[in-house]
Amino acid sequence: MRRFLKKFVKGVAWQNPIINIVLKLIDPVDSVLCKISGNSGLPKYSIRVRSNGFNGQLGGQRFAKNGRFLQSLLEKHCEITPSSDILEIGCGCGRTAISLSGYLEEGTYIGMDIEQTSLKACSENKKLQRDGFTFDFLDVQNDEFNPSGKHKADEYRFPYNDNSFDTIFLVSVFTHMLTDDVTHYIDEISRLLKPGGSAFITTFLMDDGAESEGLNFPFKAQDHFYATEEMPEIAVGYLKSFYDNNFHKNGLSEKKNPVFGKWRSPQELNNIGDFSQDIVLYQKPKNV
Ligand SMILES: C[S@@+](CC[C@H](N)C(=O)[O-])C[C@H]1O[C@@H](n2cnc3c(N)ncnc32)[C@H](O)[C@@H]1O
Repeated sequence: MRRFLKKFVKGVAWQNPIINIVLKLIDPVDSVLCKISGNSGLPKYSIRVRSNGFNGQLGGQRFAKNGRFLQSLLEKHCEITPSSDILEIGCGCGRTAISLSGYLEEGTYIGMDIEQTSLKACSENKKLQRDGFTFDFLDVQNDEFNPSGKHKADEYRFPYNDNSFDTIFLVSVFTHMLTDDVTHYIDEISRLLKPGGSAFITTFLMDDGAESEGLNFPFKAQDHFYATEEMPEIAVGYLKSFYDNNFHKNGLSEKKNPVFGKWRSPQELNNIGDFSQDIVLYQKPKNV
């Protein structure tokens, strides 16, 4: 009973076996609703909620719309084209990948994640079983998503060659990772980008204007600010200077000013429409 309650206190509802059974009972209803709303072929509801939350998830409209929106942000801010080579770190169950599967032509997409069930849903999704699309499991430890993972995130070497990708993007991933791990991932991203390539990272920026009505980050350790003392990985934020310092040390520069998300108040700072997190953008120099 204590372990059961602890799961709730930690707030990772889908890790709870009973909640998981209930979620699976909702799957057939969701599947019908997805068909009615023209969103067939999405991962199951019980899987979507793992990486994309419960809010607006039933029927799949929000999931599909946000996937398309994220693709449009990649086009706008990283100038991706149908021939780009793209890496998504922490792809979840394929929200953006599904949209990109109808966009990329001779380009390639690799999605990697540490949460095996979500990644399996990508590999089994017919929309994602196409040339140029690959899904790789990283057995990296994270208290929220892969508690028994074999490798430490701050030591993990990504299994790709240097200078391989035009764009590397992470959506709501550094929002679940702590300082040493993010620092190491930035080193890896810098190594893996082609000269001139772009990094697109969604995050909670802790700089001025970070006061939000719904989400607060009262705790701090090293460079990360966090919302929940029992499990810091549930929601993590960083100062913009943290990203600057780590990318600059690897020779990358800021590509564009941050794009502020809807989570911030005052609302005037919101310049991204319907997306909740902030976005930071860095670029590897063209001549390295
Ligand atoms: C909130 S979900 C977002 C999923 C996906 N990016 C999307 O936009 O739908 C966070 C994802 O980050 C992944 N993740 C957490 N820690 C990670 C790490 N150290 N390396 C790679 N992925 C990680 C989780 O497994 C999860 O799928």
